[in-house]
Amino acid sequence: MSKSLAGAAAALMVIMGCASAVGISGEPDRTARLAEFRRPTEIPFPESNPYSQAKAELGRSLFFDPMLSRDQTRTCATCHVPSMDWTDDKPRAVRNDDAPMAVRTPTLLDIAWIERSLGWDGRFRDLEAVAFVPISAKANMDMPDTLLVERLNATPSYVEAFRQAFPDAADEARPVTRLRIEQALATFERLIVSGPAPFDAWVAGDSAAVSAGAKRGFDLFTGKANCSACHSGAIFTDGSFHDIGTASGDDHGRGRFFPNSTALRYAFKTPTLRNVARRPPYMHDGSAKDLAAVIDVYDRGGIERASRSRDIRPLGLSKQEKADLIAFLETLTDAGADGPAHQPITAEPPRP
Ligand code: HEC
Ligand code: HEC
Repeated sequence: MSKSLAGAAAALMVIMGCASAVGISGEPDRTARLAEFRRPTEIPFPESNPYSQAKAELGRSLFFDPMLSRDQTRTCATCHVPSMDWTDDKPRAVRNDDAPMAVRTPTLLDIAWIERSLGWDGRFRDLEAVAFVPISAKANMDMPDTLLVERLNATPSYVEAFRQAFPDAADEARPVTRLRIEQALATFERLIVSGPAPFDAWVAGDSAAVSAGAKRGFDLFTGKANCSACHSGAIFTDGSFHDIGTASGDDHGRGRFFPNSTALRYAFKTPTLRNVARRPPYMHDGSAKDLAAVIDVYDRGGIERASRSRDIRPLGLSKQEKADLIAFLETLTDAGADGPAHQPITAEPPRP
């Protein structure tokens, strides 16, 4: 008897616990949840490649320079277009023979915080390690590293810029090396930061910054719809890999490197949701044409299979709830072209 009473009391507490977690008014509990999305105030630069103005400026020149491609037709910005939130609008990236690549160009926004899991399948160790993949890929910029180093060492303005950017190279006749190209590009890329969005103003305490629908959308995002299980923190990614039930065909994503892992089969990197409303199409293969299509995938719970994340299941969202989720995602959009990579580069590491 006393045992079942205790059981009933425990059950009651669980129910009450739930009720207070959801929040009667929603507001006090929202404050705590909102705080988890507060924007960082400093861009992280690794000790092995610290910030300097000269290096960032050099990185910017390299990023936009067609000299990085063999026939001088492509730059990093051919696909990572600054005015398109550092991606493009193609379902899949375009090779130099116009055929589509296997995956879509990911945005470079807030890449400094996504360091550990670069590439849709996490194949890159860090930002420095990415650069020569597009540069030397035959189907892309098609520029072997030795040729590029030679080309830049034969260009007086670059010789001077590398000497400035790398003090230990100040007296070298041929200061351009593969490592220094990687370091300069990565330093510039870390400045690619999204600007403040209405959502950030709400996090900072301005409750008029977003609509009532967007607030309900945030409650769904962090509650019933469970989106923040993976899209967590200020950059809206856990930096991890999940099968959300999108991929089909023979692209196993992260599973490529772990053929014995069921959970990693069809697992792709959780993308940031910063400025997401402005950069369709979506998913690693561009398979969702707009946000409504993305929400429908989650509402259906994607493809049911052994590898699908346990955080994904059919949601049974109403029309109103779907609209609220989209209204929330739209509050993550900044004013456009206002992050540090768009500003004049300064001696001080810029603020995000
Ligand atoms: C043909 C278009 C194209 C060009 C040109 C290109 N990229 Fe990319 N970039 C991509 C695609 C596609 C991926 C995803 C590759 C993957 O996941 O396997 C990618 C991934 C990346 C990533 C990882 C982003 C993330 O979120 O994981 C970085 C960083 C990057 N590129 C930087 C560069 C730099 C620097 C250059 C110039 C040297 C460059 N890219 C040139 C298409 C391009
Ligand atoms: C289990 C982890 C997980 C959960 C839960 C989750 N996502 Fe995702 N999300 C991902 C992954 C992984 C991708 C990339 C999948 C792919 O490319 O095939 C993604 C992609 C997206 C994209 C496309 C972004 C782009 O740049 O292509 C949007 C938008 C999105 N999710 C929103 C949401 C919303 C809204 C919810 C809640 C209804 C949600 N996600 C729940 C992991 C998750």
